[in-house]
Amino acid sequence: MKLNNSDLLNLSLEQIASAIGDPTEPVFTLLYQRHPELAAFSREDTSWQHYMIQEILQNLMEMAENPDTALAIIRDMTLHHQMIGLEADTFKGMYRTLHDVVVQHLSGPHREDMTALWEDSVQRICRSVDSAF
Ligand code: HEM
Repeated sequence: MKLNNSDLLNLSLEQIASAIGDPTEPVFTLLYQRHPELAAFSREDTSWQHYMIQEILQNLMEMAENPDTALAIIRDMTLHHQMIGLEADTFKGMYRTLHDVVVQHLSGPHREDMTALWEDSVQRICRSVDSAF
């Protein structure tokens, strides 16, 4: 049976939750390694990191249902974050890093479809980030 995009995304999030729990820490650990420029955002209080991952996952859920709305938000957020000193490359790096953390834990009969959805979503998001300027 083929699942639709929302079901595939939800299934992938469930699999991540049972494999590693909250992905915030592994994502940011890898992100700080890949993007040392992010050190400027590092704080002892890491609650903003959880907030950011929640916003991103919510936007990905919107993306599975209404891609045009989700991508319009991404373009807005690209500009908003640029104003607080976050370059587009770092912004895109967040999505690539999240993708890389997630896909390695996907499993079962829908693994290929979930992986394809994540890859396609991240590619479309990165193109939207580039088109925001
Ligand atoms: C490396 C990636 C990111 C970093 C370091 C980061 C950092 C921040 C920081 C420091 C704020 C609070 C400051 C402010 O709003 O003036 C913020 C707000 C926010 N971020 Fe991010 N962010 C990242 C990626 C994203 C992405 C990809 C999204 C996509 C949905 C997102 C969504 C939001 C939203 C919705 C807010 C609140 C905006 C508002 O105040 O109206 N962030 N981000």
